[in-house]
Amino acid sequence: MADATLEAAWGAVRALGRRDGAAAIRPLFAADPDRAARCTRRGGDILLDYSRTAIGEPVFAALIALARAAGVEAFRDAMARGEAVNNTEGRAALHMALRGARGTPFRAGAEDAAASVHGTLDAMRDFCASVHEGRVLGATRERFTDVLNVGIGGSDLGPAMAARALWTPHAPMRAHYLANVDAHAWEEVRARLDPARTLVLVASKTFTTQETMANAHLVRSWLADALGEARLGAHLAALSTNLTATAAFGIAPERVFGFRDWVGGRFSLWSSIGLSLALALGWDAFERLLAGARAMDEHFMRAPLDANLPVLLALIEVWHRNGLGYPSRAVLPYDERLARLPAHLQQLEMESLGKGVGRDGRPVAQDTGPVVFGEPGTNAQHSFMQLVHQGTTPVPVDFLFVANPDHGHADSHRKLLANGLAQAEALLRGRTAEEVEAEMRAAGTDGAAIARLLPHRVFPGDRPSNVLLIPRLDAHRLGQVVALYEHKVAALGALWGINPFDQWGVELGKQLAGGILPALEAGAPMPGMHPATAALVAEIERLRHTGG
Ligand code: F6P
Repeated sequence: MADATLEAAWGAVRALGRRDGAAAIRPLFAADPDRAARCTRRGGDILLDYSRTAIGEPVFAALIALARAAGVEAFRDAMARGEAVNNTEGRAALHMALRGARGTPFRAGAEDAAASVHGTLDAMRDFCASVHEGRVLGATRERFTDVLNVGIGGSDLGPAMAARALWTPHAPMRAHYLANVDAHAWEEVRARLDPARTLVLVASKTFTTQETMANAHLVRSWLADALGEARLGAHLAALSTNLTATAAFGIAPERVFGFRDWVGGRFSLWSSIGLSLALALGWDAFERLLAGARAMDEHFMRAPLDANLPVLLALIEVWHRNGLGYPSRAVLPYDERLARLPAHLQQLEMESLGKGVGRDGRPVAQDTGPVVFGEPGTNAQHSFMQLVHQGTTPVPVDFLFVANPDHGHADSHRKLLANGLAQAEALLRGRTAEEVEAEMRAAGTDGAAIARLLPHRVFPGDRPSNVLLIPRLDAHRLGQVVALYEHKVAALGALWGINPFDQWGVELGKQLAGGILPALEAGAPMPGMHPATAALVAEIERLRHTGG
């Protein structure tokens, strides 16, 4: 029965997507002067305006019915109860516990998750205070001025994004991030650091990730060269679930800040993986970040489906992906400080939702996660927005606007916002052939030139976007924004019937790299290698000999 209801709900969404004019947005505005207000919802301090989508009342109703039939609320509640919603790994997904208020119970199966979270937070807070107050010093008795986080994926992107967003010159320390195993990245970071004043955090949930361990060894040698093997321990700490491996690396147990396996890498910003933020921005800022995420958790848990921002973002994605067949989505923060937000969302959304089989292991019945990409506005306008305006396939956009800047250049901020608002409007309204012709005639263009250029200057319009507006970019609001997208991902997991908390698709490449490395070390293809790889190994070796 439940399956039949779900099938019917999907059928209704698909049928609406196939109607003539299903993608048209302008008629919805023409028919409803109050559309902008009617399609605006608030969660915490975030305003979501989805009026610039082709979601009218029938589509909205069908999407809400789908959310009910797919059990979005039941999945959300099971996640909050600490059930093993990550079914392929047999784990809970309890990132909400990481930012739960003291005294709020969270359990992961039999485990008291809240107790372990607050124990770690207390240890992190004490460590930050010791570093900031100069009770924990480097090997040469100097204060730490810089923190270097060595980690990749979820052990890098969230903290790197948030540090970029929130750091100011008044902050207690500078934060640096080393992720890529390409040692050019290390050379670049190293040039900014003095080993005597650098605290190194090796951030790896598993403490086995090849890239992170390789970089950690490079950094360790740098510390050993500068400070001596016996003294480098003062400069190291680890953020990990693998206490055996951190001990083997030589990190003292009191310098290991743990978290549990029910924290997924891309949801781990709020765990000890956020220690670089707490050190660089100060403990209060880190707590405000957690409190902001908590405010969004409360909204997600309590708001009805039709006013629930994460659920609405998920349903809008379903409409664009499955109703209208759009394969990608752009994220455009109109705030330079959010330059790394698209990178964080790329991992959060694509690692979570890029799945071809359902929770039951059977091929999914509909398309799943779109390609997510983005850049801060206005840079995006001078880059890929040409395709978004006039390319052959619409690309839905999430615009993120910040009402109040934290600089004194009001004119510059007005220009920034004017550009962002104009992009959203241009995508919606487009420009017809008649409008182009009238404009060209008014400019005195001759008839032949008008005929030649007119098709190039027409904008189709009816291209969808969401607008997210926050009053100001601070730790609390950033916490809300990131948690909003985390819960959107969980809601899409329920809607698409996939497990959004595993990432088996990253395993094959890791495994193959382990087999290819010996060939590169030996300088020759190995027997049994794939011929395509063998040919490139041989060519790389030839070029290495020429020194090119
Ligand atoms: O890319 C795969 C992945 O497992 C991510 O999910 C994770 O964030 C990243 O690698 C880093 O893993 P770890 O924290 O264990 O080093």
